[in-house]
Amino acid sequence: MATEVVTVRPVRSVAELARTFDVVGAQFTPAFTSADARFVDLRRAWPEDRSLLLVAESGTGAGIVGGALGFRARTGDVVLRTIGLDPGVRGRGLGRRLVETLVVAAMTLGAASVGAGGVEQATKGFYERLGFHGRGSTMRLELAPPGRIRDLHVRRLRAALGATVP
Ligand SMILES: CC(C)(COP(=O)(O)OP(=O)(O)OC[C@H]1O[C@@H](n2cnc3c(N)ncnc32)[C@H](O)[C@@H]1OP(=O)(O)O)[C@@H](O)C(=O)NCCC(=O)NCCS
Repeated sequence: MATEVVTVRPVRSVAELARTFDVVGAQFTPAFTSADARFVDLRRAWPEDRSLLLVAESGTGAGIVGGALGFRARTGDVVLRTIGLDPGVRGRGLGRRLVETLVVAAMTLGAASVGAGGVEQATKGFYERLGFHGRGSTMRLELAPPGRIRDLHVRRLRAALGATVP
């Protein structure tokens, strides 16, 4: 069977943000939906932080297959509130693509770090592979300060991600 083509892009509306949150929430046990309090910050982040509100959409008509949803905290740091993918599209680099797209957006917005809370032991390795560090259930990726090194990181990631970076 041909590999399913999946596009990563910012959500286009609050309704799509809620649908993406629901698909992501369905990947967890217990599942959660956009009625959950964790949706509030994301809803508030629309539309200013649209580049951090990413949906993964299948080109084969399956629709939304996951997403990575973040927002800027008052400190200016980016919070990756949640990430999840339908089991059918896991294990082939899409989670990495989502996080790296979000990291490019975070650097473009001038954030100093990207943090993720509530990370389970079984998923810590995923974040570690992407350069995050942390103790307990909080993982953090420190971003290079604005300047030449950051610009280089952005260029490298954009080149690796190709046309998928908005
Ligand atoms: C976590 C999740 C988003 C990862 O997505 P994915 O598309 O399967 O991940 P990728 O294929 O992009 O993997 C990226 C890298 O992380 C590694 N990795 C992925 N999941 C891992 C895990 N659970 N433990 C250790 N390493 C892992 C991969 O081997 C890969 O390494 P490489 O790029 O160096 O070869 C996906 O498994 C998922 O939706 N899980 C259910 C929801 C969930 O747990 N979300 C996170 C909550 S904190």
